[in-house]
Amino acid sequence: MSETTPHVVLFHSEASDERWPDALQRALPEFEIKRTLVGVAPEDVVAAVVWRHPPGMLEPLSNLRLIQVLGAGVDHFLTDTRLPKGVPIARLVDSGLTARMTEYVLLHTLALHRRSAESAQAQRERRWEFLHPAPPERSRVGILGLGALGLACASTLSTIGFNIVGWSRSPKQNLPFNTFAGNATLPEVLRQCDVLVLLLPLTPETNGLVDERFLGQMREGAALINVARGTLIVDEDLVAALDSGRVRHVVLDVFRQEPLPVNHPFWAHPQITMTPHNSSATNPDTAVVQVARNIRRSVAGLSPLNIVDPRVGY
Ligand code: NDP
Ligand code: OXD
Repeated sequence: MSETTPHVVLFHSEASDERWPDALQRALPEFEIKRTLVGVAPEDVVAAVVWRHPPGMLEPLSNLRLIQVLGAGVDHFLTDTRLPKGVPIARLVDSGLTARMTEYVLLHTLALHRRSAESAQAQRERRWEFLHPAPPERSRVGILGLGALGLACASTLSTIGFNIVGWSRSPKQNLPFNTFAGNATLPEVLRQCDVLVLLLPLTPETNGLVDERFLGQMREGAALINVARGTLIVDEDLVAALDSGRVRHVVLDVFRQEPLPVNHPFWAHPQITMTPHNSSATNPDTAVVQVARNIRRSVAGLSPLNIVDPRVGY
């Protein structure tokens, strides 16, 4: 048993900005930031700042007061059945993460609206194809998920002039666009929209949501942007909907398996635009302050901010 009071913060992430550990150490000089548990007494660890940790890694940490996820989505954590019991899990709601996501959704919604993929194809074929530039008011964009990211994207897109429709689990009041809530209303949302943006968490309810039935309820020739999680989509059903022309184009930033295997049909599909899960990312410049605040709050016995409800899964 260690004789010091718990003072170690464990940092584990293989994918985050490499400046994180130093930024944390500067923001939390009274704690010791450790990148490994080797040589650390497990009872000395008071907080874990983690992204995609190996399942079971946090189990021996008997004095843990906070699991701070280094991202917005927590699906990976909630599948670890060996998390220490009763330790709050907090996620990031960060201005930098939100700003990058908003840029990405704006960029690709505009590209879909202005038919950039079709123009690029015409250029490759040396075809002078005049596509009439429709105003954004003619496009209805469905934002599925009205949380921190969905609301920010909705607000920016409506400033440009797009018509917005929102969908969430619980009803929303006082938003400046039409909103729908719950599974029973989803077909109506799909029927109305020209572009759909997936900004839902991965939970048992959203897993495989975009299947043959969902795609069949979409407006003929509509487009889709998935920046949420790859597992929301049934890949074979999406390829079939693209091949039949029911879905015009999709933009995918997230995949069932990442990196996407080289032989996956998405790579070469002419109606798919792909990015390697980099629509947004947590940045220590903007996010370290809230992580430090959450650690101090937890050690002081206060509830951390942006806490996750494990019963609903986000
Ligand atoms: P939030 O938790 O703030 O919002 C989630 C929204 O989804 C809420 O409006 C919620 O409804 C809604 N929702 C949840 N379950 C359902 C359901 N079954 N049916 C309808 N609506 C549902 O999440 P964020 O906005 O912060 O992030 C959303 C997701 O984006 C993350 O979970 C993550 O997976 C992904 N992400 C991807 C990134 C990337 O780089 N590609 C970066 C960051 C996040 P209600 O309001 O009623 O609770
Ligand atoms: C996140 C992500 O959830 O980067 O923050 O995917």
